[in-house]
Amino acid sequence: MTTADRYVAFAREARGVSSAYERLSEAVARDDELLARIDTLPSAKRQPNLLFAVVRLLGGPVTDPAAFRGYALANWAAIEAEMRVRATQTNEPGRCAVLLPVLASLPQPLALLEVGASAGLCLYPDRYAYRYGDHRVGTGEPVLDCAISGTAAPARRPEVVWRAGLDLNPLDVADPADVAWLDALIWPEHEHRRERLRAAAAVAAADPPRLVQGDLVDDLPALAARAPRDATLVVFHTSVLYQVPPPRREAFAEVVRGLRGHWIANEDPDVLPYPALPEPPPDGFHNVLALDGTPLAWNRGHGQALTWFG
Ligand SMILES: C[S@@+](CC[C@H](N)C(=O)[O-])C[C@H]1O[C@@H](n2cnc3c(N)ncnc32)[C@H](O)[C@@H]1O
Repeated sequence: MTTADRYVAFAREARGVSSAYERLSEAVARDDELLARIDTLPSAKRQPNLLFAVVRLLGGPVTDPAAFRGYALANWAAIEAEMRVRATQTNEPGRCAVLLPVLASLPQPLALLEVGASAGLCLYPDRYAYRYGDHRVGTGEPVLDCAISGTAAPARRPEVVWRAGLDLNPLDVADPADVAWLDALIWPEHEHRRERLRAAAAVAAADPPRLVQGDLVDDLPALAARAPRDATLVVFHTSVLYQVPPPRREAFAEVVRGLRGHWIANEDPDVLPYPALPEPPPDGFHNVLALDGTPLAWNRGHGQALTWFG
């Protein structure tokens, strides 16, 4: 896939979700001068979302393609330096709304271990409130909206007695610089997600998660061994494995299958080897939710809809 192809694919992913990024990505895909600059970076650093978030972080324009182009060319050295040291670590607590039906169905209480946790905001499914259509679960902030179909909304939140996260580069919600990066990663029009980030960060800051710097293959067994034995261990991950090379994904699946407890994966359908999946709903990109290797449902990337398999 050429860099231009990646930007065309991202424009397609952004369609209906962020018209600003759709336009920007289409414009970059046609811009030989910008593409040549981007191609000086290692392949993993050429991601559209990384470029756009860095420009947002630096205060550059991301809604008008011509203004973006002018800014990017004039400030390329600063942009490139940030892109080399940063990674897309979007932390989306809205994904807890997708995890909740599975978490609530497991024997309680739970010990949650998230791999690829970023700042750990998905480690608090028991503290957020949910709205599945007319059905509310829990109270407080943030309130996570999810259109659910094909299964019942959960009756209650899970009971969590232990939580821990593993990440190559854990972010700290108490550090304004890390929160600024998490904010920059949110797409321009998504003000509701910015509010959600602030509310979820307040929940996490009040009772900070145990976040360990490490790799999801090499360091998972040691962290899992620290979970209490009298709780159901749940190892989970959302939107992580697309960042992991295929042989390491396989190694991870082998490690996690060897642990006690349960494994919840919520990932791009291409990253884990599932048998035939039903057609995804027509409206945009969907992840696959799976329990212990069995795929269960499609869901939208930020947790806004969950469609159980028929
Ligand atoms: C896109 S973020 C998703 C964060 C969170 N799971 C969520 O859904 O909000 C992916 C995270 O996975 C982490 N990551 C990528 N490869 C990893 C690895 N080999 N081991 C541990 N963490 C990894 C990244 O650092 C990043 O924080």
